[in-house]
Amino acid sequence: MWRIAPLGLRDRFILSSTALITLLMIVVIFFVELERTAALKERAEEHASAIAQMMADLSENRLMYYDLVALQQNVERATEDEDVVFAIIFNRDARALAANEAAREIFPAELFEIGAEMGRLERGGVLKEELAFETTDGRDVEVLEVIAPVFVEDELWGAIKLGLTLENVNAEIQRTRLGLISLGFLGLTFGALGSVFLANRISRPLESLVEGTIRVAHGDLRHRIDIPPGDEIGELAANFNRMTTEILDDREKLEEASKKLLEAEKLATIGRLATALAHEIRNPLTAVKLNIQKIGQHPALSDLEREQVGIAETGVQQVEKLVKDILSYARAPQLHKDTFDLENLIEDALRFVEEPVEEKRIQLVKDFAELAPIDIDGDQLRSAFLNTLLNATEAVSNDGVIHVRTRLEETDTGTWAVVTIEDDGAGIEKSDFKAIFDPFFTTKSLGTGLGLTNARKVVELHGGRIEVTSEPRVGTAIALWLPYATTEPTSATDDNEALPEVHEVHPSH
Ligand SMILES: Nc1ncnc2c1ncn2[C@@H]1O[C@H](COP(=O)(O)OP(=O)(O)OP(=O)(O)O)[C@@H](O)[C@H]1O
Ligand SMILES: [Mg+2]
Repeated sequence: MWRIAPLGLRDRFILSSTALITLLMIVVIFFVELERTAALKERAEEHASAIAQMMADLSENRLMYYDLVALQQNVERATEDEDVVFAIIFNRDARALAANEAAREIFPAELFEIGAEMGRLERGGVLKEELAFETTDGRDVEVLEVIAPVFVEDELWGAIKLGLTLENVNAEIQRTRLGLISLGFLGLTFGALGSVFLANRISRPLESLVEGTIRVAHGDLRHRIDIPPGDEIGELAANFNRMTTEILDDREKLEEASKKLLEAEKLATIGRLATALAHEIRNPLTAVKLNIQKIGQHPALSDLEREQVGIAETGVQQVEKLVKDILSYARAPQLHKDTFDLENLIEDALRFVEEPVEEKRIQLVKDFAELAPIDIDGDQLRSAFLNTLLNATEAVSNDGVIHVRTRLEETDTGTWAVVTIEDDGAGIEKSDFKAIFDPFFTTKSLGTGLGLTNARKVVELHGGRIEVTSEPRVGTAIALWLPYATTEPTSATDDNEALPEVHEVHPSH
């Protein structure tokens, strides 16, 4: 069992429009032919009636006087018209008095009878009938027969029977029919071509619309349907394109969100792992540190040995910082506030960077404003300053300059104590700028990538923000904005609610 494949929209359109054109053509041809045939027949009838009437007029007196010669002459004159195949003149007794010779030869005898018709004849009127004869020489002829009465003063004196061949009329009808059929074919051809053209014009955009939907359905959301606007299909395509753009946007947002979620989950896991590890390391590390210090103090050590112990001590210090950073990254967002002098805290932090400052012969420029002690978590902020200072010492080359400043700043949102650490070091590459606060983001071989993360966390917990301005190979300035709050210490949760957005500034290059 086989099935015919369903036709496509284009083929269906072509087929139906062609069928419609054909039907229209047939109807038009039918009516035109009907009209034309009627007109030709009418003309033939008028022609025949006119001749018959003329013969009747000419034959009036001749019939009265039985002038057979004149009647025969009338007949001969009438048959001079090439369409007239017979002309017969009857007297009032229905006797054929005159007829053309050819009629007598080829037409059957009943043609010369007029019995019943005589009774139907009226003054001024003619009888018409189409007849088909088989001539004596075996031809079929179609004839329009017209019978006109001959009245003499209200009395029927005879009748004229005239036969007009319909051969010419039929030939004309045939020609008309042929012409109409050729015209019909021409019309049909043009109509079919037109419908193919139209179908293509409609179906091409539709095909590209369908192709577009299939591609989009298969996940190619970047595919655009290229149909010029202007009609319904164009508008549909434009809406479709708009829809896919929106889907694409939404998908990208979704992907971005799930990436962030994954990242956050990953970080949380890393954080938990690192914290567990840091806790495990902390105690043995303290023992190692103490022992190294003890060994270092032994008087019997040679210079080389003392140097080696020093290297070991630095290593231990690095691990200690790592443990500290990880633990403060993982620490619950809580503050233990007390009244602290910012300048003292900064000096404390500076003490921890004495070694690199000395090693690199860094020029430290301090510029502290007169500030009243404020309510802050001293330990955590000290670490934040230290991390920022360490970054500056790591960024500068030998003989670099680091400015440490404090100032008071009045803004619409209140009064701020701003601590700025500015260096003339390597600066931050534009591509790294966005990531510097991300946990574990580092460009250093021995970096953990938690320094700025923790600093920001602490500053934000205080209700402050960090501003970074940097230019590669020129330097970096990091400003820690802290609310200049000299009131009673508040709980950390209250502070959390007031967290402002982190404000990052990148200079124009
Ligand atoms: N003052 C600065 N100058 C240039 N780059 C800086 C500066 N401060 C921070 N950065 C960039 O930001 C990155 C992140 O700093 P962050 O302090 O968080 O981590 P880290 O210094 O790499 O490692 P660690 O956790 O040991 O501090 C750095 O690796 C560095 O690329
Ligand atoms: Mg750092």
